[in-house]
Amino acid sequence: MKIPWSGRAHSFEKKEINFLTNIIKNADPLTQGKYLKLFEKKFGNFIKKSNVFAVSSAAAALEIISLLLGIKKNDEIIIPAHTYCASAIPFARNGAKIVWSDINFKTRTVDLGDIKKKITSKTKAIVIVHLYGYAVDFRNIINFCKKKNIKIIEDCAQAIGAEVGGKKVGSIGDFSCFSFHAQKNMTTLGEGGIIYVKEKKLARKVPGLRHNGHCNYRFKRKNYWVPAMGNLDLDLKGVWPYKFTISEIQCGAGIVMLKRLNALNKKRIKRAKKFIKEMSNFDELQFVNPTEKNRHVYHLLSAYYQPSKYINKNDLIEILFEKYSIKCAVQYYPLYKYALFKKMGQGSKKLLNTEKFYNNMISFPFHVWMSDKEFNYMIRSVKKSLLSLQKLRNK
Ligand SMILES: Cc1ncc(COP(=O)(O)O)c(C=O)c1O
Repeated sequence: MKIPWSGRAHSFEKKEINFLTNIIKNADPLTQGKYLKLFEKKFGNFIKKSNVFAVSSAAAALEIISLLLGIKKNDEIIIPAHTYCASAIPFARNGAKIVWSDINFKTRTVDLGDIKKKITSKTKAIVIVHLYGYAVDFRNIINFCKKKNIKIIEDCAQAIGAEVGGKKVGSIGDFSCFSFHAQKNMTTLGEGGIIYVKEKKLARKVPGLRHNGHCNYRFKRKNYWVPAMGNLDLDLKGVWPYKFTISEIQCGAGIVMLKRLNALNKKRIKRAKKFIKEMSNFDELQFVNPTEKNRHVYHLLSAYYQPSKYINKNDLIEILFEKYSIKCAVQYYPLYKYALFKKMGQGSKKLLNTEKFYNNMISFPFHVWMSDKEFNYMIRSVKKSLLSLQKLRNK
């Protein structure tokens, strides 16, 4: 048996493919049409919010959010260093100084205490990343941020369907983004995203910013081609708009996958619980446990491997790959250590938990299309590998 690190999280069912085939055959227009409107409506219902817009990716959503924030020179944005680079690049590109925050070792997500310590008079916003599909409970800093006029951005790229206190993540902060990239809990054919903007006035600016400034004329026109076929205008003073639109077929995929998302998430949660329970006799492998209070949706299945003098997570990854053909991954290299961020002046001194976790973490393949047979094979193989490493540890 072979378990790859898959480039797609799930497959599409026959009736979903039929629905999409119909769009391919008949949709006119093929972009910015009725499926876009329907997908946005359904996603809005899903997180129980309006002001929801579909875009080409979560990175595009974050780019628009950073424009809406109106970042000025010397503004600071606090972002965890333990996340994917897209959580930070849009803010840096738009001129913010990134203040990297550490993670909480227990939750493996942003440390709210560390964020509070890093807030200064220059802090414009903080980014809460619901990484790995873990729901970050940040409710106790909302009032604190409100008082200081600091905006909260939820990066829910990995956490569609996760919940905090019964509310969907992405519906609590001032702004949020979701990703439908190929490996996410649901995909709109490889790429796609959502932006949510709480403030109505700001939300109105999103359609133009995502589509080259296209808008209606303010005056009533006699002929549709006069003075031009369509109008272009600015939504934000002095800010060029982008082209971040998403096709009708992708929106169709979003509509059908939203119907199945809960079932897919339930499968992830059930499997994660099973895996964690099966590994409970191995103290060296430490997971974030499922909670009853908040809902984690386990986009990934990651663990901390407690290293000993001679054995570390690389030994486990190697055995799983060489002996059992199971391809694990290591995520997320502290962003401030990448040449990209360093060369752009966004380095940082070491963050302890961020580096400790990265240095000792292992992420098991967790695509939802993995068969039960393969999943059980992975459980058996990990146990056997851990036992063989225990023997070496004890030598
Ligand atoms: C935490 C996080 N934020 C943002 C993104 C960007 O998503 P997209 O690929 O849709 O731009 C990703 C994608 O992997 C991510 O994991």
